[in-house]
Amino acid sequence: MSSDALIESLSAAIDARPDDLPLRLHLATMLLDAGRGGEAIAQVGQALARDPGNEQAQALMQRALGAAVPPPPPTPDAASAGPAPAAPAQRPAPAGAAGDDPLAAYEQELADVVPPRFARAGDEPEPVAGDHDRVYDVETATIRLADVGGMSAVKERLELAFLGPLRNPQLRKMYGKSLRGGLMLYGPPGCGKTFLARAVAGEMGAKFISLSIVDVLDMWMGNSERNLHELFQAARRNAPCVLFLDEVDALGHKRSQVSSSSMRTLGNQLLAELDGMEGSNEGVFVLAATNTPWDVDPALRRPGRLDRVVLVLPPDAEARRAILEYHLRERPIAGIDLHKVVAATEDLSGADLAHLCETAAEYAMADSVRSGEVRMIEQRDFDRALKEVRPSTRPWMSTARNVAMFANEGGVYDDLVAYLKKRKLL
Ligand SMILES: Nc1ncnc2c1ncn2[C@@H]1O[C@H](COP(=O)(O)OP(=O)(O)OP(=O)(O)O)[C@@H](O)[C@H]1O
Ligand SMILES: [Mg+2]
Repeated sequence: MSSDALIESLSAAIDARPDDLPLRLHLATMLLDAGRGGEAIAQVGQALARDPGNEQAQALMQRALGAAVPPPPPTPDAASAGPAPAAPAQRPAPAGAAGDDPLAAYEQELADVVPPRFARAGDEPEPVAGDHDRVYDVETATIRLADVGGMSAVKERLELAFLGPLRNPQLRKMYGKSLRGGLMLYGPPGCGKTFLARAVAGEMGAKFISLSIVDVLDMWMGNSERNLHELFQAARRNAPCVLFLDEVDALGHKRSQVSSSSMRTLGNQLLAELDGMEGSNEGVFVLAATNTPWDVDPALRRPGRLDRVVLVLPPDAEARRAILEYHLRERPIAGIDLHKVVAATEDLSGADLAHLCETAAEYAMADSVRSGEVRMIEQRDFDRALKEVRPSTRPWMSTARNVAMFANEGGVYDDLVAYLKKRKLL
């Protein structure tokens, strides 16, 4: 029996016995071997829907997705330095060569579903038109999730909610998922929300437009709704695009607490833009960040808007190490016990860690000035600085504690409750 005929009879058997997982996985393997990746993914998806933990199914899915999607390029820098090696632009004859290069073939096949991972020369975004000053910048983010230290839980959430679906058009089709979404990052100040948003944009190969309340208040008063609309339009034109609304509490403050009518109208406008017209927000991911999610209008969290909420906590040990290394990379250091510093800095935010390095450097410098003998930054400078720098996240934690105790409606803050319990703060 030919493999196609066998596949056909197996398909018929599966229709009759939809819960027979071994049979379904066998069919999926045959489909994969026959180069029918899309159908294989559909079968494995069905199997995983019935038994999410099935290891064989997970392995098959990985294999199928690996075959169906071009792998990410090796380094983020390749994008800015020139076309990435895997990008079709660098091939001698991109159109004709597709036949012998499976990656190029896939890219071409998916061209109308997925945009190219990297902009090609001459593909630069047009400057945003408008009759007012350019109050926002469209940029291409260069940092990647790998540059964000630690935070594995947050990364996993982002992967599931955004990045996975973006990379796998066939899966999206199967689950009927559209390419849009909204997610709100919240947590204490200085812990990497803004940094993470940029990394997401970098990871998606998407453009990044960021807007903070300062822009709104400084430049937009009086004309704010139209400008907010312009901003969303710019994002839609640049899709796929991450639109980052920093300090969203100020923009979408609980309407019941807003006394100024112009701010209230602006809040309503934000809701309308998030809803968009039918399909108009396709490819626009809205990431928002706030220190005070409890002040954010609950209407912003309804399905289809910023419906996913992710807690960004003070950096864990791995993240602290990464942040410290980053801030020490260009400083003259000698004999720093990074392990010890990492262990002594629990609760410090990314910004606090930067301040810690700064303080240690000041001590070493002051000493050098005093003694007239230049010396490196040493562990003793860190020991002194550690006594001085206090975690700036504590006041936030005490407010958060109240919220977790008294206002965790619908379980929005379950992650926060779990963290506070783990830290024995609740
Ligand atoms: N996990 C991390 N890995 C690497 N660097 C980090 C990490 N978290 C924070 N940082 C560093 O700390 C700095 C401050 O982070 P960021 O500005 O993103 O904080 P934020 O949560 O947006 O704060 P705010 O609420 O005050 O806006 C970043 O520029 C980055 O250098
Ligand atoms: Mg920020």
